[in-house]
Amino acid sequence: MHSFHYRDSKLHCEDVDLGRVAQEFGTPLYIYSAGTILDHYRRLDSALASLDHLICYAVKANSNRAILKLFADAGAGFDIVSAGELFRVRAAGGLPDRCTFAGVGKSREEIEYALDQGVYSLNVESEAELDYINQIAGAKNLRAPIALRLNPDVDPHTHEYISTGSHENKFGIALEHAAAVYERAATMSNIRIVGVQMHIGSQITETEPFAEAIRKVSPLVSELKAKYGIEFFSIGGGLGIVYESSLASGSGDWWQASKTALSIQQYINAILPELRELKLKILLEPGRLLAGNAGVLLTRVRYLKQSGQKKFAIVDAGMNDLIRPALYHSYHEIVPVDEPRSSAREKIDVVGPVCESADFFALDREMPELQEGDLLAIMSAGAYGFVMASNYNSRPLPAEAFVHGNKFALIRQRQTFEDLIRGEVGPTF
Ligand code: LLP
Repeated sequence: MHSFHYRDSKLHCEDVDLGRVAQEFGTPLYIYSAGTILDHYRRLDSALASLDHLICYAVKANSNRAILKLFADAGAGFDIVSAGELFRVRAAGGLPDRCTFAGVGKSREEIEYALDQGVYSLNVESEAELDYINQIAGAKNLRAPIALRLNPDVDPHTHEYISTGSHENKFGIALEHAAAVYERAATMSNIRIVGVQMHIGSQITETEPFAEAIRKVSPLVSELKAKYGIEFFSIGGGLGIVYESSLASGSGDWWQASKTALSIQQYINAILPELRELKLKILLEPGRLLAGNAGVLLTRVRYLKQSGQKKFAIVDAGMNDLIRPALYHSYHEIVPVDEPRSSAREKIDVVGPVCESADFFALDREMPELQEGDLLAIMSAGAYGFVMASNYNSRPLPAEAFVHGNKFALIRQRQTFEDLIRGEVGPTF
């Protein structure tokens, strides 16, 4: 569900006319609905009510402080993958003892920072990392709380770049080696075993890969509980969202195959019985599910261009602002902020100003007829949108705004040209 809809022919987010927000803060502009984020969080939380659980929001999906604060205030934990993300969580008032720290390449500084802050668990992805954490914790004279990230080797049927739970991927420790690594961990004087973790991929739209992974890992989880008294089992994130709603209908590509995403209830129903048996605290790490449909990227049409048979709308947002179409060929619905008066449609490429042919948001998309100056909303851009933005082509990062009810406010200023060169020094030789 999301809170973007037409009212009086204007696209609104909750009770706010998006045209007004664009007028005030300019474009390109990310806009997030606080109400949608909270609704998603609460629905997931209540579907899990019969389990001892903690929802650890995957900060990487959208790490703006205002969003992290929303989750912290709602009582969420956080799944972090860098010291920078932990710093953000702390800056937003989140509690370190509700943070789990994942990632295949944690540095010494990151491990030290996480231990000093007192994270709930460091999720370990290799034996080498386990040794390193033991050594660093030893120097601090403490026991590092750890979970091993297991790789259950299942196919999540998603895009190859966001599939993580098969042996083809760099993530986690193979299930068949896990017991032996736990045994080693138990002998380490500066390691405290607290849990088990897994994550099989992102934008997963079937229940079976989740259920299969849990079925595969559960016997070991029970064994570890009996042997080491582990506290939690984290089943990761990955629940897919709908990228095409009823606001418009688009042309087909890979991501569109996922338009019948799972409902929260279907997902929970498929995994609950097995999880209940474990009688452990269950952690979930959703990112996209909570933030994806809660955000849009507003952009304005700068020029229309006809080239041979092709028509282009060149907009003021580029692949540096939202890289998902270029990187994953992902589908994002695009709708005009002013509801089209006529039903006339035409095929058009919606492209950005960046000097790359991959700089597109839609190719050969059936769209209402566009005019120069039209404001467009690129939908479902709340997760893996701004966080993956860059300064490529020396384009300042876009602004971000928050909507709650009938209120809206800036939550990140648009970068200036000065910001572009801040930090560049020298050379001093
Ligand atoms: N936990 C771990 C260990 C992860 O690696 C991820 C995502 C999540 C949780 C959250 O997954 P989610 O619930 O959001 O599916 N940039 C890509 C997505 C990369 C996902 C990376 N890991 C995209 O734009 O589709």
